[in-house]
Amino acid sequence: MFPANRPRRLRRDAFSRAMVREHRLSPADFILPVFVHDIPGRAPIPSMPGVERLSIDELLKVGEQALELGVPALDIFPVIHPAAKSLDAAEAFNPEGLAQRAVRALKARLPELGVMTDVALDPYTVHGQDGIIDEHGYVQNDITTEILVKQSLSHAEAGVDIVSPSDMMDGRVGAIRNALEAAGHIHTRIMAYSAKYASAFYGPFRDALGSAGNLGKSDKFNYQMDPANGDEALREVALDIAEGADMVMVKPGLPYLDVLWRVKQEFRMPTFAYQVSGEYAMIKAAAQNGWLDHDKVMMESLIAFKRAGADGVLTYFALDAARLLRQHG
Ligand code: PBG
Repeated sequence: MFPANRPRRLRRDAFSRAMVREHRLSPADFILPVFVHDIPGRAPIPSMPGVERLSIDELLKVGEQALELGVPALDIFPVIHPAAKSLDAAEAFNPEGLAQRAVRALKARLPELGVMTDVALDPYTVHGQDGIIDEHGYVQNDITTEILVKQSLSHAEAGVDIVSPSDMMDGRVGAIRNALEAAGHIHTRIMAYSAKYASAFYGPFRDALGSAGNLGKSDKFNYQMDPANGDEALREVALDIAEGADMVMVKPGLPYLDVLWRVKQEFRMPTFAYQVSGEYAMIKAAAQNGWLDHDKVMMESLIAFKRAGADGVLTYFALDAARLLRQHG
């Protein structure tokens, strides 16, 4: 008796593996998140080895590299000076704010590069929460949404291509869409952080923004999703689509591939995943110890997103992975 099927036949040689490969990565699959600060030069982020905070001049250099490598878009995260943080987060919609200036500089110098901004108040609040809190520390939904709308409009006026609400307030996608339309910004795309979980994997990001200290021991469970929930993600995505989102996102990435898969299967929308700071830090730390092969694990993690149905991945590895794809195809 012989085995009726020998799946290993197709695995034997590189040519036949290439013939039956189901998914491929390309630089166009990546969006690079970038941290921008208001001082000259670059500054390392210890918990995110290889990632630096950038001045606007340095950001333009990174933007050029992204364009050159075929990475279609950057996502801007401003590091706000403590003196500009407040309870009402008014700096978020300052037309001369750091995010707004970064957008204008990128669109002036590199008009073909897609520019995306995060819409949320955590860089701007003294307590590091994503919204306006009441006397109990509870983030108030509708008041916060009004400020998110102003923030989005100020980004659109600066010329941003995509606004990306990451705050998880109810109804904010509809409010932002309506205000953008009313102001004539009919082309501004919305990538909604639709299923965003209250995750401890955001730790290094909060170090990068300097908001970890502000947040202290408090958490974001009253607006970000419970990691125990899957069906709820589908309800959140349905709401954001109905409210006018062009693209939806699941965040974090690898620990939530089941959610990504379900969202893609259910809605067939342009669907993105965010490989967050903590996921990046884990791979970097293990690689620095010699415990994992950096490049192989990076590429394996990225192809996993494609297999699970992602149309693209926000990843701090974007430029490294694009370079590797250019070298090896
Ligand atoms: C802001 C925001 C966060 C991240 C993206 N946008 C942090 C948070 O919600 O606390 C995390 C990204 C990362 O960890 O890489 N709302």
